[in-house]
Amino acid sequence: MSTTQTQSQPDADVALKAKHRAMWALGDYHAVATEIIPALGPVLVEAAGITAGEHVLDVAAGSGNVAIPAAAAGAHVIATDLTPELLDHGRDDAAEAGVRLDWQVADAEHLPFEDATFDVVTSCVGAMFAPHHQQTADELVRVCRPGGRIGLISWTPSGFIGQMFAAMKPYVAPPPPGAQPPPLWGDLEHVRELLGDRVSEVTASQQLLGVDRIAEPATFREYFKSHYGPTIAAYRGLADDPVRTAELDRALLDLAERFRTPDGGLAWEYLLVVATRV
Ligand SMILES: C[S@@+](CC[C@H](N)C(=O)[O-])C[C@H]1O[C@@H](n2cnc3c(N)ncnc32)[C@H](O)[C@@H]1O
Repeated sequence: MSTTQTQSQPDADVALKAKHRAMWALGDYHAVATEIIPALGPVLVEAAGITAGEHVLDVAAGSGNVAIPAAAAGAHVIATDLTPELLDHGRDDAAEAGVRLDWQVADAEHLPFEDATFDVVTSCVGAMFAPHHQQTADELVRVCRPGGRIGLISWTPSGFIGQMFAAMKPYVAPPPPGAQPPPLWGDLEHVRELLGDRVSEVTASQQLLGVDRIAEPATFREYFKSHYGPTIAAYRGLADDPVRTAELDRALLDLAERFRTPDGGLAWEYLLVVATRV
C-alpha cells in the first residue's frame, strides 16, 4: 500500500492518483509557484486570519506557497500534497527561510487525520485538482474543528487558467467517470453546495493576480509547455500528431492574446473563499 492509499480506495482511484502525481511532477511547478503565483500564499494566510500558535493544515500544498508563510506567521503547519517531489522543494525553501513545518504525502480525498484536528484548513489552487469534489470538500470540513476556518483559493471557470483548461480540453483524454473539472471550484455556488450547512459566515470575492512576467503570449505558451504539468501532459499526448500539436499551440496563443490587457499585462482571476466550520 502506498503512503496515501487507504483500505477503502478502489484500484482505479489509486491508478488515477498515481497518474495525477506523475503529471504534477512534470516540468517545474515549483518555479510556477515561486516565480508566477507566490503572492497568493500570503493572500490566503491573511484572509484566513492565521495567527501564531494555530494548527493549520495546507491541502495540496505543492511546495508550500501557503504553508511556508503560515508557518512564518507562527502557526504549527502541516503541508500535505499528492506529489512528493513538490514537498521536497518546499522542505528546501523552508530550510532556507529558517521556517519549521511538517510535510506529508496525502491525497486530499483521504486525509490521514482525525476529525476536528485543525484550527484552519487551507488550499490554494490545490484541492480543486482532486477529481471528486464532494469527497474532497467532506475531508476539508471533517478535519477542521468547530469554529475553525476553511480558506480556499481556486481559479475561476471564466478566468485565464479556467479558460486555459477549456482550451486544452479537446486535446486531452476525457476524465474518468465521476471526475469533475477543477475550475468548478471557482464557482461560488458550487463551493457553497459542496460545503453545505456544515459552514457559516462564508465570505467570498473574485480577485485578480497580475502575471506580467509571462504576459507576452508566446512567452506564456513556452513557459507553460516547459513548466506546468497539465500542459506538458497535454502536449505529450499529441506527440505523434503535428497537426493537432500546432492547433493546441495556436489555441494557447489565442487565449493569451484574448486576455492581454491594453497595457500589455495579464491577470488571472481566482475565487477566494473563507468559511467558518459550524
Ligand atoms: C497548481 S498546484 C498548487 C500547489 C500550491 N498549493 C500552490 O499554491 O502553489 C496543484 C497541486 O495539487 C496537488 N494535487 C493534485 N491532486 C491532488 C490530490 N488528489 N490530493 C492532494 N494534492 C493533489 C498537486 O500535486 C499540486 O501540488
